Amino acid sequence: MAGKLAHKVALVSGASRGIGRATALALAREGAAFIGLHYGNNADAARATVREIEQLGAKVVAIQSDLHNGRDAAYELWHRFQDAAVAATGEAGLDILVNNAGIAPAVALSETSESLFDEVMAVNLKAPFFLIQAASAHIRERGRIINVSTGFTRLAAPTHPAYAASKGALETLTLALAPAFGPRGITVNAVMPGVTQTDMNAEWLAHTEARDSAEAMSVFSRLGQPKDIADVITFLASDEARWITGQTIDATGGARL
Ligand SMILES: NC(=O)c1ccc[n+]([C@@H]2O[C@H](COP(=O)([O-])OP(=O)(O)OC[C@H]3O[C@@H](n4cnc5c(N)ncnc54)[C@H](OP(=O)(O)O)[C@@H]3O)[C@@H](O)[C@H]2O)c1
Repeated sequence: MAGKLAHKVALVSGASRGIGRATALALAREGAAFIGLHYGNNADAARATVREIEQLGAKVVAIQSDLHNGRDAAYELWHRFQDAAVAATGEAGLDILVNNAGIAPAVALSETSESLFDEVMAVNLKAPFFLIQAASAHIRERGRIINVSTGFTRLAAPTHPAYAASKGALETLTLALAPAFGPRGITVNAVMPGVTQTDMNAEWLAHTEARDSAEAMSVFSRLGQPKDIADVITFLASDEARWITGQTIDATGGARL
């Protein structure tokens, strides 16, 4: 299929719903040939997204893995993706890795248990770290690693301290890894969404007051949509973004500028 990402092989974590789903669809629309669609517990949502991707002409495999299990889950996800990629394309190479799966519990410092802290770090930081490690040798020349962060690394978020800290570390990891991948023409970047209308914050946004204040955060006076973020990720995945690496791209709709 023609497009900016023709013939590319991609793996998107947390692609059953929300920003990950929109990203997998955007990659398929740009011609990606094979997409690994990772999900956690929601097999129905994953199946529905698989069907949408197939309708766009891309090959796709859904892979379940609970990233709460950190390194082991990341390696298992990678090996299952690799097997599926070999079966579908004849090769184990990867062009685009999007670390998108995440959890964002609104739990204040005083209420944060050690187990909740560990879970947030495992899903949001440890799993991306080890998924990059597992995939590293197989990412092809001019490949892309894209980590999904949050605007809460730029704006103080006392409501989400563990979450904000996990994503701050993910951005630092992005910077730290960029030089190591440079010699192969591989870029490593992060995207920082603002409030985006997904299941993650549906309950909160159901309250008119919360929704109004979330809309007012952006200079465009609206909520972000998953496609707003997916389009930025797709740009970073394309050859047009070959000269950008080690960066965190603000995709908050100009939140609180
Ligand atoms: N929505 C926002 O306002 C916003 C703002 C800033 C940053 N972000 C970031 O954007 C990313 C995507 O968020 P979203 O709003 O699209 O979230 P979402 O709609 O809640 O979707 C989350 C995705 O991550 C997967 N996931 C969650 N926990 C998992 C686990 N333990 N193991 C494996 N997979 C797991 C889910 O799988 P299942 O469907 O199988 O459960 C789902 O595919 C996250 O990293 C989030 O921090 C979101």
